Amino acid sequence: MTDQELVRMALEARAQAYAPYSGFAVGAAILCSDGAVYTGCNIENASYPCGICAERVAASKALSEGRRDFSILAVAGSSAALCTPCGLCRQFLCEFAPGLRVLCANQAGAFEEHMLSELLAAGFDGASMA
Ligand code: THU
Repeated sequence: MTDQELVRMALEARAQAYAPYSGFAVGAAILCSDGAVYTGCNIENASYPCGICAERVAASKALSEGRRDFSILAVAGSSAALCTPCGLCRQFLCEFAPGLRVLCANQAGAFEEHMLSELLAAGFDGASMA
């Protein structure tokens, strides 16, 4: 699975987006260590805070099947700008994969790589409560 292929899967996952309020479809694809990929899309709600981002859908699908060994996440938006995970998603992902590589893509498939540790400096974790 190349980075480009994972970005392509994120772009395709946008087809299932439910985004009638923002009109902004997002797709995500998360790669596990054995090559398995889980995809997700954003799912909005008339009660806006109930909506969920594509990244947390993809990660939750994987987590619900017992997967925690994430290596790379691709996220793709629907504009010329590169789509970066929101703060909530950064914290959510940090719980399971603090060393995650994150590929932030635009609608054309152009992308930039970031480390999650760079996107979320000093994230809160279990050690923070010790
Ligand atoms: N959204 C995502 O799904 N992932 C991101 O990385 C950024 C934002 C969604 C949330 C909402 O449904 C829409 O994009 C506009 O914010």
